[in-house]
Amino acid sequence: MMKAAALASSAMVAAVVVVSTVLHQRQRRASKRSERAEAVLRDLLDRCAAPVELLRQIADAMAADMRAGLAAEGGSDLQMLVTYVDSLPSGGEKGMFYALDLGGTNFRVLRIQLGGREQRIIRQESKGISIPQHLMSSSSHELFNFIAAALAKFVASEGEDCHLPEGIQRELGFTFSFPVKQTSLASGTLIKWTKSFAIDEMVGKDVVAELNMAIKLQGLDMKVTALVNDTVGTLAAGRYLDHDTIAAVILGTGSNAAYIEHAHAIPKWHAPLPKSGDMVINMEWGNFKSSHFPLTQFDQELDAESLNPGEQIYEKLISGMYMGEIVRRILLKMAQEAAIFGDNIPPKLERPYILRFTLHTRTIDMLMMHHDTSSDLRTVASKLKEILGIKCTSLRTRKLIVDVCEAIATRGARLAAAGIYSIIQKHSQHSVIPDTKRSVIAVDGGVYKYYTFFGQCMESTLSDMLGPELASCVVIKPVNDGSGVGAALLAASYSRFHQADE
Ligand code: BGC
Repeated sequence: MMKAAALASSAMVAAVVVVSTVLHQRQRRASKRSERAEAVLRDLLDRCAAPVELLRQIADAMAADMRAGLAAEGGSDLQMLVTYVDSLPSGGEKGMFYALDLGGTNFRVLRIQLGGREQRIIRQESKGISIPQHLMSSSSHELFNFIAAALAKFVASEGEDCHLPEGIQRELGFTFSFPVKQTSLASGTLIKWTKSFAIDEMVGKDVVAELNMAIKLQGLDMKVTALVNDTVGTLAAGRYLDHDTIAAVILGTGSNAAYIEHAHAIPKWHAPLPKSGDMVINMEWGNFKSSHFPLTQFDQELDAESLNPGEQIYEKLISGMYMGEIVRRILLKMAQEAAIFGDNIPPKLERPYILRFTLHTRTIDMLMMHHDTSSDLRTVASKLKEILGIKCTSLRTRKLIVDVCEAIATRGARLAAAGIYSIIQKHSQHSVIPDTKRSVIAVDGGVYKYYTFFGQCMESTLSDMLGPELASCVVIKPVNDGSGVGAALLAASYSRFHQADE
């Protein structure tokens, strides 16, 4: 009896020893995995570091590229496109105007009623429509017919009070947010697609002619009177709201900037100088690249596998379409090398662009995970489950994911600040009293609008670069819907039919 009891108790001891050894091994394995993942994070943080001295070098390189791009066609990676916008809205514009804003995953149609200096914007109506994925790589006819049909439907909703007097045609500002070589304010050929668009036969074609044709097919009495980039639209809307606006930046699906340049500082402009002496330049800064960029293997791989390898490198570091994809690539490496999601790689984590940046539904997965302030990082857990099918993660892993998002957002925001810094530098070269004049930079785009961390980090970095005195003269101003409203305002200020108040 005693023997049996002794046997049972030693078996129990043995079982306890086995269980605790297994647990111990598991813990050791888990902590080894965490250590490996944390090593990947440390290496990432090192490589993504963008201290102010580096940012200054990047800003100097951008300024040099700006000058080269203004000097000659194709003179630099920055195309510095002449927009034919030599005067911006004054506030006195009057009449009813339309805008069509195409550039990301959706497009918007907009109707605006302007009442001159006293009444300003009397009424504004708009509608956003998402573009089916297949149309982004179909044919120009299919894309433009789809857009024109939506526009016709929107025009049909004009109220009785909207009707234009006899003989007056509807005028449309067309925001087309891709690099275009303009030949006048209302014509221009597509240089190349960016972001998710890839309709090859469209490159080299006049985008206004294509749209006017599609509008005609719809039987609409309407004509494009201004072709503008979204940065130019935002600059126009910014200027309408605040006369000190000198530049506009878009931080959304893609990224770009436009600013007011002195016409005499554009050697490649051979036509007579405009009366205003100014010309708005669409920088197409997304295509900027510099040997000073803090690049990682993830950026290089993303670029190599993108629709436009070797191009839009700056955009691939700072804009919404790409930042989530960089995060995915880092998480995949952590899953492969440190098994942060267990022994198997979650299959969905291998799917490019699965971390979404979809503005019309405000689905910015990276932002939602990064902004999770709950103590147990609940949103991170539910996003991992919803998007990647990962059911169970430790808090340590979830924290790691937040840190990865933060590393990529911080680098993007700091690099974006360097871009703004170089525009301010360029602008102040021509100013009479460079250090004291208030300068406003209009900013729009989903990354800036919704990704608070990004916006704050960009602004504080810019302040650090400018120093306290200059920083107090620079205002970063959000301009909501600037690209569409600005296009309508430009259609108004260049209207054939309506006269603005003095
Ligand atoms: C385009 C620019 C545009 C920017 C923001 C870039 O990909 O090349 O023309 O302004 O995205 O929409």
